[in-house]
Amino acid sequence: MKKFTSVKDVANIYDLVNDALVLKRNPLGYNEIGKNKTLGLIFMNPSLRTRLSTQKAAVNLGMDVMVMNIDKEGWALETRDGVIMNGTTVEHIREAAAVMGQYFDILGLRSFPNLKNREEDYNEDILQKFITYSGLPVISLESGTLHPLQSLTDLITIEELKTVKRPKVVLTWAPHVKALPQAVPNSFAEWMSAAEVDFVITHPEGYELDPAYTNGATIIYNQDEALQHADFIYVKNWSSYHQYGQVLTQDPSWLLTNKRLEITNNARIMHCLPVRRDLELSSEILDGPASLVIHQAANRVWAAQTVLKKMLETNY
Ligand code: CP
Repeated sequence: MKKFTSVKDVANIYDLVNDALVLKRNPLGYNEIGKNKTLGLIFMNPSLRTRLSTQKAAVNLGMDVMVMNIDKEGWALETRDGVIMNGTTVEHIREAAAVMGQYFDILGLRSFPNLKNREEDYNEDILQKFITYSGLPVISLESGTLHPLQSLTDLITIEELKTVKRPKVVLTWAPHVKALPQAVPNSFAEWMSAAEVDFVITHPEGYELDPAYTNGATIIYNQDEALQHADFIYVKNWSSYHQYGQVLTQDPSWLLTNKRLEITNNARIMHCLPVRRDLELSSEILDGPASLVIHQAANRVWAAQTVLKKMLETNY
């Protein structure tokens, strides 16, 4: 595996899930495979789970890890080509990424969208430039459009805990006060469309995701109708794709409560975290037996470790 930026980079998603579950049972079973190899984790935006779980995964494989919050600790980065750098930027992405290519063996990058210019965000310009100029195998730690490590984690969690062969999985929009990226729902939709599940998306009108990711999913605008007989419910806010980056509503009736879950098939509730309590998801669900959020966060390690192991096996 040369890059992990989308489900399209994966030959067989269930091979990855099986590998992850093997690593979960025996975390240190391959603790020599990364010896003398260095993982560089570059963050242009905040992170708790992605940063810590990927670091832990690398250490489990015997790798060294370097982490840099480049937005705070690095030189101000110029990402555009063909500009005279007489403003506030100090270092061009061409040199910065090429230098990292000299220090690391695998590069992880987190680069959020700006939510102002859809074309710029959906071109994945920064991620693509890091891939090109570093010359390294690259793992997306969440990009402008996708969060594949999270989605692999989510698939692992569903496979581990499903009680029927083909579960019904519902992705539901939830209220929020801020404009959030579409990366997690895009990515979840992309992976669920490739998985053996019945996949439904529910959101208020105006929150349709990019059809490139939702092709094949059933979209239902009535949340109660969508939740009927659900086995897993994935809760997430996102801002509008069509009215790009806009918060069109904060309708609190979309907040899930235990009462609302009565129409489901004892659904388990998922969220990638961080979550705003009683705005995005109710405390009674987060603190109750249906919640899988901590289980999901724990599984982030096995998703990252599986991808790193695949890269170490195929690139060296
Ligand atoms: N779910 C997730 O990616 O968490 P962080 O933003 O804390 O890494």
